Amino acid sequence: MNYHITTIPGDGIGPEIVRETCKVLNQVGQVFGHEFHYKEILMGGCSIDAHGVPLTDEALETAKGSDAVLLGAVGGDVGNSRWYDVAPNLRPEAGLLAIRKGLNLFANIRPAYLYEELAQACPLKKEIIGDGFDMVIMRELTGGLYFGERYTREVDGVMTAVDTLTYNEKEIRRIAVKAFDIAMKRRKSVISVDKANVLDSSRLWRKVVEEVAKDYPQVKLTHMLVDNCAMQLVMNPGQFDVILTENMFGDILSDEASMITGSIGMLSSASMNESKFGLYEPSHGSAPDIAGKNLANPIATILSGAMMLRYSFDLDQEADAVEQAVQQVLAEGYRTGDIYSQGRARGSCSQMGDLIAERIVKK
Ligand code: IPM
Ligand code: MG
Repeated sequence: MNYHITTIPGDGIGPEIVRETCKVLNQVGQVFGHEFHYKEILMGGCSIDAHGVPLTDEALETAKGSDAVLLGAVGGDVGNSRWYDVAPNLRPEAGLLAIRKGLNLFANIRPAYLYEELAQACPLKKEIIGDGFDMVIMRELTGGLYFGERYTREVDGVMTAVDTLTYNEKEIRRIAVKAFDIAMKRRKSVISVDKANVLDSSRLWRKVVEEVAKDYPQVKLTHMLVDNCAMQLVMNPGQFDVILTENMFGDILSDEASMITGSIGMLSSASMNESKFGLYEPSHGSAPDIAGKNLANPIATILSGAMMLRYSFDLDQEADAVEQAVQQVLAEGYRTGDIYSQGRARGSCSQMGDLIAERIVKK
């Protein structure tokens, strides 16, 4: 089969980790007999440099016309980059928000899984880690605080900033359905995270999630307040299967979840619309401090590539092959700096890509 992928190398370490992921995908193509065709677009700081905006309409159209999108990272050093001397809607991250909205990517799936091999890099105590953990965060991605009305102006002589948090029942229902669907393929538990003791949007969230749950009698639904969830993630991570939550809470909780897997460099993510179309990107940022040094961990992006194979192309066997190749490289002791521990082999970004590609096999 032929697949058309839009690639967005972006800024910072983005180009390096996307390059390694394409290397792995090309090897999958070789071994399994597929052809992946890539079309590159600019987004983020590099697009600002070239076009004065973080995402052009043409770039968005190219992405729309493809089968899936692979993204590295966008953005630079906030305190130190000219990309941030402009209005917020012209900064690199605005490109990311625009493509999420423009492609209607409302469902952000972020798996957090502890590889046995990386247990040493996990900051939690052994007795807390127990048998490890394997959770998926289902984050709403096109609503809430990120997309509500916002402004900063003087009110009665006092500078005042306003951000609004809005959700309607349709937006809540469609992300809840995605969470329950995924739970049906896993351990059949959904923990819906909100702040219903304070926020109206959370109270509506709870009500709609409960309605959706009626269609999934086999799935156990629990509600958890977000502050409690932040605590439970480091106290008893094994209790989570699917976490369902709104945009901002999901942003924060997914960083926390990634850290307990050992490194944010391990966490992949898929952002999907109603169909099988998706944008696949690591959960981490552009790490400008190590950009261009061949030090970045490409695993989160490579695992995002595996999610692309599985969710957009229905290539389960191929996705398994990528995930197993990653596991094997870790089991053999190779580590980038972020997950390095004593006695292991220190690998560069491109070496990790080579090693993973070499281990792609058809079973
Ligand atoms: C993420 C990132 C983005 C977000 C930023 C870069 C706008 O933190 O994907 O989690 O907040 O969604
Ligand atoms: Mg984030």
